[in-house]
Amino acid sequence: MSFSGIIVAAGSGSRAGGDKQWRALGGKPVLRWSAEALLNAGADELVVVVAAGAEDRAAETLAGLSNWRTVTGGGVRAASVSAGLAALTCCPDRPVLIHDAARPLLDRAVIDRLIAALDHADGALPALPVADSLRRGADSLMAGVVERDGLWRAQTPQAFRRDTIEAAYAAWTGTEAPTDEAAVVQGHGGRVALVEGDPRLMKLTYPEDFAMAEALLSQQTR
Ligand code: CTP
Ligand code: MG
Repeated sequence: MSFSGIIVAAGSGSRAGGDKQWRALGGKPVLRWSAEALLNAGADELVVVVAAGAEDRAAETLAGLSNWRTVTGGGVRAASVSAGLAALTCCPDRPVLIHDAARPLLDRAVIDRLIAALDHADGALPALPVADSLRRGADSLMAGVVERDGLWRAQTPQAFRRDTIEAAYAAWTGTEAPTDEAAVVQGHGGRVALVEGDPRLMKLTYPEDFAMAEALLSQQTR
């Protein structure tokens, strides 16, 4: 299966205590897990978006892998995605998958579901139904109940037809605060499919998430 990949790795990881994409997980840097998952699934080009000055670190982290290059990211995630899109050099007729460096446990099956969904949609994202009951709070007091039906937790990678995502970002003014690419594409009139996500595809956000990801990895290799 042939597609272009973008990994956004230009964040500061502040909630995790810094630098989460470069940290080791199961003996391999987090960014390397994400890059290998996309390259092994058939990415023919992979753009890795990093903060200015982190190019050498990326080269060290991804040593021995082929078909990737870095580009400098921006101050917000959407600016990093934009930089990644602008750096793609080949194959405008192929899908593009945009992935968080901070989600290292990416299975091939998720990628297959995303690409299959592009047969009938402009974009697709993996999602899991919300399990907890939800409350709205105000000043540390419960202010109401939020209906859980129809709510999903969005993951990455998010897959798009190349022309759709390029048009959506070309029109994006940068003044809205979209949380992800799917929101930008949907805001531009695109149809985005929800496909079955994967609990293992958790994002490393807080320090304790590393222990959880290590546990998931050791289950897999047992
Ligand atoms: N990201 C990026 N450019 C930014 C902000 C985020 O490329 N300006 C990337 C991060 O490197 C990460 C992914 O987007 O792989 C998801 O973002 P998040 O989990 O929020 O990571 P950080 O922004 O690095 O962490 P924090 O918000 O805790 O500082
Ligand atoms: Mg962030």
